[in-house]
Amino acid sequence: MWNYYNPVEIIFGEKKFSSIESILENKKYIIVTHPEDIFKQYSDQLSNSPNPPLMIMTDVQPNPDYLDILTLLNKFSSIAQEVDHILAIGGGSVIDTAKALAAFKGDQTLLTDFIRNNQKPHVVDPISILAVPTTSGTSSELTCWATIWDKEKKKKFSLAHHSLYPLKAIIDPAIMLNKPRELTISTGLDALSHSMESIWNINANPISATHGIAGSKLIIENLPLLVEDLQNIKLRSNVARACIHAGLAFSNTKTAIAHNISYPITINHGVQHGIACSFSLPIVLRSMEGVNQEAESRLQKIFNDTINNSASKLESMLRKLNVPLNLNELQINKNEWDQIISDAFMGERGKNFLGNIDNFNKSVKVSNFFNS
Ligand SMILES: NC(=O)c1ccc[n+]([C@@H]2O[C@H](COP(=O)([O-])OP(=O)(O)OC[C@H]3O[C@@H](n4cnc5c(N)ncnc54)[C@H](O)[C@@H]3O)[C@@H](O)[C@H]2O)c1
Ligand SMILES: [Fe+2]
Repeated sequence: MWNYYNPVEIIFGEKKFSSIESILENKKYIIVTHPEDIFKQYSDQLSNSPNPPLMIMTDVQPNPDYLDILTLLNKFSSIAQEVDHILAIGGGSVIDTAKALAAFKGDQTLLTDFIRNNQKPHVVDPISILAVPTTSGTSSELTCWATIWDKEKKKKFSLAHHSLYPLKAIIDPAIMLNKPRELTISTGLDALSHSMESIWNINANPISATHGIAGSKLIIENLPLLVEDLQNIKLRSNVARACIHAGLAFSNTKTAIAHNISYPITINHGVQHGIACSFSLPIVLRSMEGVNQEAESRLQKIFNDTINNSASKLESMLRKLNVPLNLNELQINKNEWDQIISDAFMGERGKNFLGNIDNFNKSVKVSNFFNS
């Protein structure tokens, strides 16, 4: 018995960004985007159209922080009530910021109650979001949650509400051609992590698993080629499609243990999200042997091989992409690692994991993680 749900309309294709003008006809909207010059062409196009935005917000930082979003909410408060859509053009940080603006509509108190006062997020009838992802990684355009970081308190929050799915996701692989190599790697590996985490997940169902397998295969087949040929639109399209499958998979299952392991490594050591959640994938994969037959057979479909051989193939792919694969390379000491692992298994995402800590720790040893 299972349910599957994802309400986002997906508009996919090269140069599809141009369809945005007709979608916005007669609507009042604001644009949220990154500050770098390369994004200006998109907001300029709309500023010069017959229906320009009411406001353009460009002060979005990577890994959006509570204090920065407070400032944006304040800026937004004067027009929040008259806006029909928030158009987010950017990576996960922009789309997640748009979700916070859509949910709290300019009310700083609601954000503070959620982040600092331990209250459930108060979300009623949020403003609808149109998402134009510029990275292929987070799939925030297909999920109903947003990651908000409280860097001062070293905490990470998930603003989650069933009404926060974007209305439409306009996915144009041509927009991703500018992505530099490192960003292409880290975001692509985030999509791989979402795909695989949706499979070793207590919330998996046949539909999410089909998407998880498809997303994993597309990343494994295309990402190593893409990083050597960044302007290849066909490879960009394939990785963008992988990210759609990843989103359709983990929007229904959430993530699992690899993500719970990643959070302290990102907060305390500054490791990029996609790297922090993918270095442990071979270890987690190896730990699944003999744990759950259904998950095991789904995982075997990704590499068409045994679990152990699949983990070795994944290691060599990650190695080629320069992902740190042992404690030394991650520059974490053993005590900190032990603490991270025990906390991760107790964490919300860790509890989604079908496997267990004993098998995980055995797999850490077999994977030579403590040897450099
Ligand atoms: N909501 C979710 O479901 C979800 C899932 C996973 C991660 N996240 C969160 O998303 C955030 C990370 O998002 P991200 O990985 O997409 O990166 P990002 O949005 O933080 O962007 C990283 C950098 O890449 C640049 N950039 C973005 N697109 C570009 C392009 N096409 N060309 C050149 N540069 C470009 C940006 O200017 C920025 O400096 C984190 O806060 C993470 O926790 C959210
Ligand atoms: Fe992620």
